[in-house]
Amino acid sequence: MTARDTDWDGVRLHVVTGKGGTGKTTVAAALALALAHGGRKVLLVETEGRQGVARLFDRPPLPYEERKIAIGPGEADDGRDHGGDVYALAIDPEGALLDYLHMFYGMRSAGVALTRLGMMDFATTIAPGLSDVLVTGKATEAARRKRPGGGYLYDAVVMDAPPTGRIGRFLNVTAEVSGLARVGPIRTHADTVANVIKSPQTAVHFVSTLEEMPVQETLDGIAELRAIPGMRVGGIVINMARPAVLSAEELKAAPDPQAMSAALAAAGLHTTDELAAALADELAEHARHVELQDRERTELEAAGRPVYELPLIPDGIDLAALHRLAADLRDQGAA
Ligand SMILES: Nc1ncnc2c1ncn2[C@@H]1O[C@H](COP(=O)(O)OP(=O)(O)OP(=O)(O)O)[C@@H](O)[C@H]1O
Ligand SMILES: [Mg+2]
Repeated sequence: MTARDTDWDGVRLHVVTGKGGTGKTTVAAALALALAHGGRKVLLVETEGRQGVARLFDRPPLPYEERKIAIGPGEADDGRDHGGDVYALAIDPEGALLDYLHMFYGMRSAGVALTRLGMMDFATTIAPGLSDVLVTGKATEAARRKRPGGGYLYDAVVMDAPPTGRIGRFLNVTAEVSGLARVGPIRTHADTVANVIKSPQTAVHFVSTLEEMPVQETLDGIAELRAIPGMRVGGIVINMARPAVLSAEELKAAPDPQAMSAALAAAGLHTTDELAAALADELAEHARHVELQDRERTELEAAGRPVYELPLIPDGIDLAALHRLAADLRDQGAA
């Protein structure tokens, strides 16, 4: 297969948010894999310092350093589409501050001294806005970084971002540091970061399950970002969707316990009233579940953004499952 259009051509920084536990880290990793086709180089960055990415890829904890952790899908039979590379980086505010001091002032040793003096507590506790701008700054720097011969080093950067409750403040860096620094290098840095985040090169994707709370948080998060000029809401990834065993019509036509009993008997199955009643209960429960999922899906669709759907993988997420989710995302046009 040759390269084809995706929903996100032109996007270089993919920010993945969502309610806690809905699968942000999993979906960010799957998206990074999906984008790493055809020899592309993709950087997956973790921002919460929890080493979820390393665990997902079965690796020891990641240092503050960009490391190759996976190879994207290749399609060997046409001989052209070779897999790309996924690199990973776990960004923490301390590392980002040292990096910032080094990059802009050549002050690595000063950074080390600051660490010893407890400067990091200042950065993370007293000024959370500063800590956010350092973290987003590192991700946007990677997205803008050029190779020696020209052209971008990374074709895409995927950020496993904080949950929906914090995403607006996390990304709206200029507003966050404006109380802290009206002028000066931090302010200039924040403006550079904002220029990337509030450009068409950045899209913020939301992960949600088909349950009330995550859907509500997604809709609230989308509204919050839409209110920030320049911010671009990307797609909605429905995660852990459970396939409907029966369609809504079939479920409506589901028999009551008596009819169920009769039907089972007619099918030559030995049955008891209890068994028929239990089966009927299960059908009713499944019907409620399908109806709820459909309702939540409709609410998400009303946000007017591309919607992707990933299944619940019953055996949990290992590398094979991650590749399967990546393929699903690609098939649906996300990469
Ligand atoms: N499609 C899926 N099928 C089955 N299990 C899944 C799927 N997606 C995620 N999981 C599992 O759900 C759990 C939460 O996923 P994950 O850690 O990616 O969520 P998160 O939103 O990053 O969580 P946190 O808010 O804690 O960072 C993990 O155990 C993960 O393996
Ligand atoms: Mg996570």
